[in-house]
Amino acid sequence: MSVTIRPATGAQFSRIHGVGGYRPTRVIPNSEVLNWIDSSDEWIRTRSGIAERRWAGPEESVAEMSVQAAGKAIAMSGISPEQIGGVIVATVSHLKQTPAIATEIAQRLGCGTAPAFDISAACAGFGYGLSLADGMVRGGSAEYVLVIGVERLSDLTDKSDRSTAFIFGDGAGAAIVGPSDTPGIGKVIWGSDGSQADVISQTQAWDTAFAKPDAVNGAGDEAKWPALRMEGQTVFRWAVYDMAKVAQQALDAAGITADQLGAFIPHQANMRIIDSMIKALKLPAEVPVARDIVETGNTSAASIPLAMERMLERGQARSGDLALIIGFGAGLVYAAAVVTLP
Ligand SMILES: CC(C)(COP(=O)(O)OP(=O)(O)OC[C@H]1O[C@@H](n2cnc3c(N)ncnc32)[C@H](O)[C@@H]1OP(=O)(O)O)[C@@H](O)C(=O)NCCC(=O)NCCS
Repeated sequence: MSVTIRPATGAQFSRIHGVGGYRPTRVIPNSEVLNWIDSSDEWIRTRSGIAERRWAGPEESVAEMSVQAAGKAIAMSGISPEQIGGVIVATVSHLKQTPAIATEIAQRLGCGTAPAFDISAACAGFGYGLSLADGMVRGGSAEYVLVIGVERLSDLTDKSDRSTAFIFGDGAGAAIVGPSDTPGIGKVIWGSDGSQADVISQTQAWDTAFAKPDAVNGAGDEAKWPALRMEGQTVFRWAVYDMAKVAQQALDAAGITADQLGAFIPHQANMRIIDSMIKALKLPAEVPVARDIVETGNTSAASIPLAMERMLERGQARSGDLALIIGFGAGLVYAAAVVTLP
């Protein structure tokens, strides 16, 4: 007698049901950054597009910001937390190795015994989480999945490093992915290139840092707290040339042309990268583009959901519109998709 396993069955399609963000209260304008590095407001604005960023205070932990952002996404989606069957937290700046911060967040939100785990995919983290969530909903392992992108990059910023001190910000963005009658998430084009792992990375591993007697006290150059370092120009070229192609692949896979988009929501890394992508994609001028970087800086995994929430809040994009999202960063990693806005 042959027996077969009954497979899990999920929804035919998935979509984003709600989005929410949390921005720390402390605003750091460029003028404050000038206290740490030799630069100018004009240089920072013209080279990166950033005017100010938010840095989290002691109470604005990775978990606290996530709970705030997720609460808004849950409220917008109209579901109850018990319906969430998976919590995915994308972050590179939760400084405790284990347990995953996702379990605490799930518990605080009231998600019962939902599986909860963290992923490390830097600025592509939200797209990676979205791809997993889409698969979980359609594969039948969860009805609703909470995807959070959250960072406290201020904890990993070397304030004396001219090439990064002005870039990073803190915050959290969250989305609820669940079943849909019509397709709401196109094929996620995601990938990695480990040959460029050194292009953006932590300056030193924690064990190396702590092996030095003055590591935590920051005595001398060798003994600095680990921070993010970046080969800015290499990242810039990769983003402009390779990521525009990935964005186009996401459009093609979804069967959508640029003129059918209601919004373009790229990772908020640099305004010049955003402008180059617009050109490469031949995006019509009437398609609204997320430019949250001006007020928020680069918040890595949080940047796309934060920018999405802001565009909807400000009426720059509407629920039901098609949006092209693309994230890219340390790894190197990337993820792009066309989604229906909640
Ligand atoms: C970081 C970044 C803004 C730097 O801009 P850039 O034009 O590449 O700057 P460069 O490093 O080539 O330096 C250009 C000049 O500006 C100077 N400069 C560098 N940092 C400066 C600063 N903070 N303020 C003022 N001048 C600065 C350099 O000394 C150099 O001067 P020189 O021409 O006299 O030698 C840019 O490379 C970038 O945004 N890269 C991508 C970063 C990114 O997207 N990261 C996130 C990925 S997730």
